[in-house]
Amino acid sequence: MPPLPAAGYIAAMLDHASNAPALPPEIARRRTFAIISHPDAGKTTLTEKFLLYGGAIQMAGQVRAKGEARRTRSDFMQMEKDRGISVSASAMSFDFGPFRFNLVDTPGHSDFSEDTYRTLTAVDAAIMVIDGAKGVESQTQKLFEVCRLRDLPILTFCNKMDRESRDTFDIIDEIQENLAIDVTPASWPIGVGRDFLGCYDMLHNRLELMDRADRNRVAETVKIDGLDDPKLNDLIPPHLLEKLREEVEMARELLPPLDHNAFLEGTLTPIWFGSAINSFGVKELMDGIAEYGPEPQPQDAQPRPIAADEKKVMGFVFKVQANMDPKHRDRVAFVRLASGHFTRGMKLTHVRSKKTMTISNPVLFLAADRELAEEAWAGDIIGIPNHGQLRIGDTLTEGEEVRVTGIPSFAPELLQGVRAGDPMKAKHLEKALMQFAEEGAAKVFKPAIGSGFIVGVVGALQFEVLASRIELEYGLPVRFDASQFTSARWVSGPQDQIDQLVKANTQHISYDHDGDPVFLTRLQWDIDRIERDYAGIKLSATKEMM
Ligand code: G4P
Repeated sequence: MPPLPAAGYIAAMLDHASNAPALPPEIARRRTFAIISHPDAGKTTLTEKFLLYGGAIQMAGQVRAKGEARRTRSDFMQMEKDRGISVSASAMSFDFGPFRFNLVDTPGHSDFSEDTYRTLTAVDAAIMVIDGAKGVESQTQKLFEVCRLRDLPILTFCNKMDRESRDTFDIIDEIQENLAIDVTPASWPIGVGRDFLGCYDMLHNRLELMDRADRNRVAETVKIDGLDDPKLNDLIPPHLLEKLREEVEMARELLPPLDHNAFLEGTLTPIWFGSAINSFGVKELMDGIAEYGPEPQPQDAQPRPIAADEKKVMGFVFKVQANMDPKHRDRVAFVRLASGHFTRGMKLTHVRSKKTMTISNPVLFLAADRELAEEAWAGDIIGIPNHGQLRIGDTLTEGEEVRVTGIPSFAPELLQGVRAGDPMKAKHLEKALMQFAEEGAAKVFKPAIGSGFIVGVVGALQFEVLASRIELEYGLPVRFDASQFTSARWVSGPQDQIDQLVKANTQHISYDHDGDPVFLTRLQWDIDRIERDYAGIKLSATKEMM
């Protein structure tokens, strides 16, 4: 299917541009976002339809069919194949009319919330997909809370309207109540389940009618002159038309109108109703992202924030993935460009090490295919293959000492000891663990006394993922043992106090992969004791990665 014509976009862009300060057009046309949802709500299907409309794939079903059990082109890992969950985050770029969309995939499973959090630092907006029959589910709620921490603008897509769904007002009420966000209908469904005909587009006063015969066809659009237009009598059966008129009137009275600022501040979400599998409502949602944005946003950094339209290139690593393609044992750092116009071969300063790196093989992720990125702009995600120099939280600039902030590392909630099945392979294991630590897949602590390592994760499934990856990627069977510790806290404060603390509590001290001291314990009492005994010491559950 060819990319769709982009009605009204240019006007919308000009409109945004008139709300100065204007970004250069190449940056203003970028939309970088993630999709959040509870498993099964339809994220994969929606992603596939996005790629289809973006011209990145030719046929629906291709995403699923290709690579056998792969659920989407963005899933790489063996574990995902086995379990059908999306463990790793990746990025996909495609054009939609004059816009460039960068869709960053979030891991779907709750055990990967830290990874998800970091992924969400790289986007300017999120699409929340909910199942029309199930409403707001637990994982949606969790992911929403993460978006809220960053005040991300949210667009909502209520999916599966072709099935029996809940009453439209009920769904909207539930979102408003459970998520404490205002909801404004961008479209209103006409009928439900078998009777679902399509939607009334509340923002553009037109009807979108679903074609049940062809799942890949874009809905027919009928321009109407308000809901009293006589044309409607031929298109909608009387009982559904009456209901639509009543509901839309009520919705206009009871629900807030679309306030662009409230949307940008993350306090109001527009909701579209549709059916991803029938390609219905998807284009309208994409139109919404194009029209309402936001464009690439400024990035928090020290000593100053970074504006997207700065001439000089700056970017930060939000994800590192090793061995993404088993054929090339490489490591790719996913970099969100925060400003400027990047061109291949550029020399950038790696601020943490102050070294210069020549970025000669940057990649863009166009659906499954990696392509060399000849250029990229603020808002884009590029992959930089490297041998471990690039870590999560690192900033790249054209020389200025600026560091992007707000990419935390969370204290693990589960700790286990880890040993190589073959004791002769301890060194290999250390290498593998360090790599996973740098990737952010787990916390790895080296105890101050004794041998071996302690691995910390947020969710139990991560241990399995790790064991499977170490075996698959390094050919090393490993064993996890129970650890005597349950909590980890990073130690900070004056060096003399840290030295004293370490000396007096050696059995509790480990070092993370950066060599920073970590206090391990199973008792909150211990943590309180240290904070009481060492006035200048702080034990914290998060560490800023920079
Ligand atoms: P996820 O990534 O959020 O986990 O969801 P996914 O897209 O895989 O969709 C979950 C299931 O819901 C799939 O069915 C999918 O076909 C179905 N689905 C998605 N969108 C719609 C929709 O608009 N209407 C209806 N009726 N179903 C929808 P499945 O049986 O698990 O997989 P499959 O056999 O269809 O591949």
